[in-house]
Amino acid sequence: MVDEQKSPFDSHVFVCTNDRGGRAKSCADGNSQQTRARLKAEINKRDLKGRVRVSQCGCMGLCDKGPNVMIYPQKSWFPAATSEDAKDIIDRLETMLG
Ligand code: FES
Repeated sequence: MVDEQKSPFDSHVFVCTNDRGGRAKSCADGNSQQTRARLKAEINKRDLKGRVRVSQCGCMGLCDKGPNVMIYPQKSWFPAATSEDAKDIIDRLETMLG
């Protein structure tokens, strides 16, 4: 039987870093690795490490709107996100977390 546990994080920030190498639109075209790095830096700066986890992920099926950032369990979606949006995204997450 599978072991199910409660997530240790209040939020998980998923950054699509899928890269199709220019063959078709993908979030890596918008430098989503850099966005991921800036989001992680914001989390560390605000001492949210341990509560919030930033993870790269594969395609979310919303490529035309990318680069995409999704936050769960808050179900917030940030399309066309760039590294310059990292501060604003984490500001909003902090508001959601209360
Ligand atoms: S490549 Fe990022 S959502 Fe599809």
